[in-house]
Amino acid sequence: MFDNNFYLEQVEKELKIVLDSEDIEQPMKDAIYYAIFPAGKRIRPLMVLALMQDLKKEPLDALRASVTIEFLHCASLIHDDLPAFDDDDFRRGRPSCHKAYGQAPAILAGDFLPLFALKTISKSAYNEDVKVKLSEILSNAFLELCNGQQLDILENEEKKDKLLRIYELKTGGLFKAVLGFASVVSNMSDDFTKIALKLGAEIGVYFQIIDDYIDLYGTKENRGKPQSSDEKNGKFTVFSINTKEEGLRILKNSENEIYDYINMLCDNSENKSITFDNLKFFVEYMKKRM
Ligand code: IPE
Ligand code: IPE
Ligand code: MG
Ligand code: MG
Ligand code: MG
Repeated sequence: MFDNNFYLEQVEKELKIVLDSEDIEQPMKDAIYYAIFPAGKRIRPLMVLALMQDLKKEPLDALRASVTIEFLHCASLIHDDLPAFDDDDFRRGRPSCHKAYGQAPAILAGDFLPLFALKTISKSAYNEDVKVKLSEILSNAFLELCNGQQLDILENEEKKDKLLRIYELKTGGLFKAVLGFASVVSNMSDDFTKIALKLGAEIGVYFQIIDDYIDLYGTKENRGKPQSSDEKNGKFTVFSINTKEEGLRILKNSENEIYDYINMLCDNSENKSITFDNLKFFVEYMKKRM
């Protein structure tokens, strides 16, 4: 069993240790800490650690790498809430970063964190080969996220036929890093990592469809904001252009793809006792949030 509470505590401590080691000017510093603490779900770093256990490796070996994905994630949320994007005044049940600190410190916080994440990898104790691979995966994750966010703010009609591709980029980018990091730190083969990245992209699609569902049909506690953001912005999402039933069918297709990739990874593992129980637990957890 994956000890979620224990590892969550390790992630919280590690985020703080790494951030505290850097000189950061005010008020950008406060904006950065505000965007990172208190915790959101921390699902990305926790999944890296849970996957390490699935791969029969020591989860804490991936701790330093795992928190860099959370830096990218929190940076993306700061920018996502800005008036130029979703224009959301609330996140995680309190004012969004630019509402609390103003736009300039918030924009800088979102600029600072991705490169700080890369610096954290370059300064880490992983061997050179691992560091090069992690850096490439981390960079690609954020580049894809930016491409996805760009497509996401196009006119609705332009987006309509590419929604799932956009989800693969804007949300799948970071989940590819989750799967890729666990695979690289565990020294899995390049073939294994390739399939793991595809699985990560599909998990991103799945996670984003559920996020769309919660935005439209969820409670304000679950959503972290009083109103639906997508509805306010008149945004096309899987659940705004489809009926609930159709949307849930699209979600089910994505879930089936996830399990196909998991089976492929099992076939690709030399160790036949690898069954990805932790990963399956996280996929179930995502669905239970609905
Ligand atoms: C929200 O991500 C943004 C999306 C990619 C949908 P999370 O739901 O993981 O946000 P927190 O970190 O738990 O608040
Ligand atoms: C954003 O998707 C995902 C990012 C890449 C930042 P959303 O705009 O739906 O995320 P929330 O609902 O604001 O968290
Ligand atoms: Mg958005
Ligand atoms: Mg948003
Ligand atoms: Mg959303």
